[in-house]
Amino acid sequence: PPAPGLSLSVIGTGYLGATHAVCMALLGHSVVGIDVDENKIRSLASGTLPFYEPGLQELLRRMLACGRLSFSTDFSAAAGADIHFLCVGTPQKPDSPAADLRFLDAALARLAPHLDRACLVAGKSTVPVGTAERLAAFLRSSSPAGDQAELAWNPEFLREGHAVEDTLHPDRLVFGVASRQARALLDACYAPVIADGTPVVETDPATAELVKAAANSFLATKISYINAMAEICEATGADVNQLATALSYDNRIGGRFLTPGLGFGGGCLPKDIRAFTHRAKELGVGQAVGFLQEVDAINQRRRQRTVDLITEMACGDPAGVHVTVLGAAFKPDSDDIRDAPALDVARMLHQAGAKVTVFDPKAMNNARRAYPDLAYADTLEAAVTGAEIVALLTEWDVFRRADPAALGTLVQRRNIVDGRHALDAEAYRAAGWDYRALGAPSKL
Ligand code: UGA
Repeated sequence: PPAPGLSLSVIGTGYLGATHAVCMALLGHSVVGIDVDENKIRSLASGTLPFYEPGLQELLRRMLACGRLSFSTDFSAAAGADIHFLCVGTPQKPDSPAADLRFLDAALARLAPHLDRACLVAGKSTVPVGTAERLAAFLRSSSPAGDQAELAWNPEFLREGHAVEDTLHPDRLVFGVASRQARALLDACYAPVIADGTPVVETDPATAELVKAAANSFLATKISYINAMAEICEATGADVNQLATALSYDNRIGGRFLTPGLGFGGGCLPKDIRAFTHRAKELGVGQAVGFLQEVDAINQRRRQRTVDLITEMACGDPAGVHVTVLGAAFKPDSDDIRDAPALDVARMLHQAGAKVTVFDPKAMNNARRAYPDLAYADTLEAAVTGAEIVALLTEWDVFRRADPAALGTLVQRRNIVDGRHALDAEAYRAAGWDYRALGAPSKL
């Protein structure tokens, strides 16, 4: 389809914003990415992504070269854009389960004085329901355009590691709009994506905000559900992998997000279920999502149970035992270590006195900065050399593909804990390993 060629600004160039800015330029729009972090902007403007995401860096360079994409720390660069996308982070508050909206409020306060003509401000950040209404009132009263500056909510569902694909070919688009003009602008912005057959759900801003909270809560619930079943399997000697496979053939259940293991982490699912629970309580309907506290508790238990399994392999005391932790990122194909289950387990083992060595293909720098007390190795081979127990905690492909026989020649003892049900148990056992995974019966 012909390039629709709108003028866009993207406020906040972290994970979500940088991806969105690059992908919107790819769709043919002129995009300026704005952030208060000078280092981030300098890095992006010179074509270097400040984080790892497959395929994004090449696209960033292409878009910078073709002149449709630029970056600035100056909010006046956003003036005149047809749509301003708010993509700043909404992390968990340090001392409460609530979402911290300080960055979002600050971003809008800096943007508003530059909005002097009709435009749309479209929020993409994950927010407590009711935020859009509050921001819309602020926008009307603080921008020179007044009523002509409209607010919409357009939640983002991209996954780290698949960010480009998820932005260009999403399962659905959700437009939380209050007017026909807003809908028309979003239609023009996403025209090529819509032309591809992507369904659009048009709704009000509050429902759009809720869709995101509900979607992430559902995904978290699915993961904790299968992990709860793993706990039952652990108590009975049943096999959670076979259970999950059998469930997955029921089309009403489906197999995605049904992989048991160490559970979910990252900058989204854990904080989103907590913020959602908190918001529901504020609204007087906490009971409706009371089960999410259980979802969180099941997920947290995975980490301790993984430590317990490793401790069991260490004959009841990990102190002084050389444990190699494979994986630091919260999931493969990412260097993000926010609330990473792998590093949490590594930290607990270290605290229990184990000699922990960590290796991750992409997250080493982030891990080193956050956990300077742990030991790190530069390669998979160096990491496992001399290990008494190997724990696979983030299922990178390079770990899945490793040859159990070759690894076996490097370790001190062939003990492996598969925290993600990612390895071929039989191949490891055939190569002489004691292979263990939570929820799967151990065989000697
Ligand atoms: C999640 C959602 O999947 C996205 O749709 C959403 O846009 C995003 O949060 C967000 O709110 O920004 P993300 O956190 O990037 O995306 O990663 P996921 O692929 O959802 O994985 C989350 C965690 O669940 C990882 O730690 C992963 O290891 C774990 N997981 C996933 C499981 O333990 N089992 C599974 O079967 C699937």
